[in-house]
Amino acid sequence: MSWLLKSSIGKKLIMSVTGIALVLFLLFHAAMNVTAVFSEEAYNAICALLGANWYAVAGTAALAALVAIHFIYALILTMQNRKARGNDSYAVSVRPKNVEWASQNMFVLGVIVIGFLLLHFSQFWYKMMFAELLGNHHVELGSATVSPQDGAEFIKYYFSQTWVVVAYLVWYVALWFHLSHGFWSAIQTIGWNNTIWLNRWKVIGQVTATVICLAFAFVTIYFYARHMICL
Ligand code: HEM
Repeated sequence: MSWLLKSSIGKKLIMSVTGIALVLFLLFHAAMNVTAVFSEEAYNAICALLGANWYAVAGTAALAALVAIHFIYALILTMQNRKARGNDSYAVSVRPKNVEWASQNMFVLGVIVIGFLLLHFSQFWYKMMFAELLGNHHVELGSATVSPQDGAEFIKYYFSQTWVVVAYLVWYVALWFHLSHGFWSAIQTIGWNNTIWLNRWKVIGQVTATVICLAFAFVTIYFYARHMICL
């Protein structure tokens, strides 16, 4: 077992498995958010299920562990790579052929994604699940007071603000680049590749990244447009 933690391939494997689990969460989260466009009641019912219930809190703890492990191993591998490359890391790099921009910037993209995630938590999770855990039945949202389970109100409130919408769209672009390379790279590390499947996985990875990010963007833009039309 120690090879998993010590060898380079073991560390990459940990990153791949945690990364794929996070992609599965994002597929669920994006699908859940799209529900808000069609039925605010259904969306709030899902938010209530994901409130301060033991299974939702356990899920949140598992997610936090996945993000932490994924980030810590990314840090270790990035530092090891820098060290191995020695002075080369300071040379002005001419991008090697066939190495995509995203693959060289995975760590920076990941840091950007986590940065926006902290903003997202302060707006949603902190005022929803966390408020409920503290026993609050009402939270302040702008000038209104709402239930911490009223996810639809949160969406309408935040996605009526231009700066929030722009910030979230920037977030999705960084996420797209991170996922489009990360998914494919994870599959390669796990070893599900041969000459035919290498390219297929690349396409599957890009389609998955695009579906996830477009679904998030759709919800964000839909509620912003609705707010602008109803002004
Ligand atoms: C349209 C965009 C989005 C909306 C409307 C949205 C909505 C929400 C809501 C309502 C919650 C709180 C659920 C609760 O605690 O009851 C939440 C939590 C969360 N969101 Fe988002 N989200 C969006 C985009 C994203 C993106 C792009 C990511 C990741 C890159 C993300 C990651 C998370 C995570 C990790 C949690 C905590 C989940 C948990 O507590 O288990 N969200 N989001």
